[in-house]
Amino acid sequence: MSTGTRSHPLFAHVYAHLSGRMERELGRYREELVGDLPGRVLEIGAGDGMNFAHYGPATEEVVAVEPEPYLRKKAAPRAADAVPEISVVEGTAEALPFEDDSFDVVVVCLVLCSIGDLTDALDEVKRVLKPGGSLRFFEHVRSDDPNKARIQTGLDRSGIWPRLSGGCHCSCRTVSGIEQSGFEVSEIREFETRPNWLHTSPSVLGTAVPA
Ligand SMILES: C[S@@+](CC[C@H](N)C(=O)[O-])C[C@H]1O[C@@H](n2cnc3c(N)ncnc32)[C@H](O)[C@@H]1O
Repeated sequence: MSTGTRSHPLFAHVYAHLSGRMERELGRYREELVGDLPGRVLEIGAGDGMNFAHYGPATEEVVAVEPEPYLRKKAAPRAADAVPEISVVEGTAEALPFEDDSFDVVVVCLVLCSIGDLTDALDEVKRVLKPGGSLRFFEHVRSDDPNKARIQTGLDRSGIWPRLSGGCHCSCRTVSGIEQSGFEVSEIREFETRPNWLHTSPSVLGTAVPA
């Protein structure tokens, strides 16, 4: 197995099966996330490519990194149907297979919750961003409601949720993680993803730039 692969076959098959249905709720956020991104874009952890149809004409090229082989395979036809040129490659956030200063925008969508070392990953994002580039994110985060946060923490600590979901954690303080990794959040909104009792809600959608 090469270092760019993370195989989670059960999670990958279930996720690919559900992703079309999730589009009814998530499609509008995917559109807001990537619809008007300029230039050359890197999407990390692209899954089965559900963002690809939402990129608009301002995007010149997308390089999508995905470590899970089955999801990578499912992403390929969606890449072929997309408006900008999209290539899907093997790799992980912690060791991005790209030169320094390569991308105008890096996109993470429901991914940072699954990454083992957030600092390593965000250092890599800074490395591959061109000067003036930005990080665009849509991530589910820890709830401000203490009762819900307790359930989220319990699910993570028990190992049940991470095992079922390919390593996802639902109690992540992702925004402070982004800030502590040397980014300044320039734009953000937080909202409940329906149904709002889901342990993978609330979510944040926004932009951060290297500080
Ligand atoms: C919940 S899925 C989201 C997929 C896709 N971004 C979407 O919006 O549908 C999480 C994704 O993160 C990927 N992932 C997990 N660990 C990763 C890592 N270390 N580097 C890059 N991607 C990773 C998984 O393989 C999976 O595709």
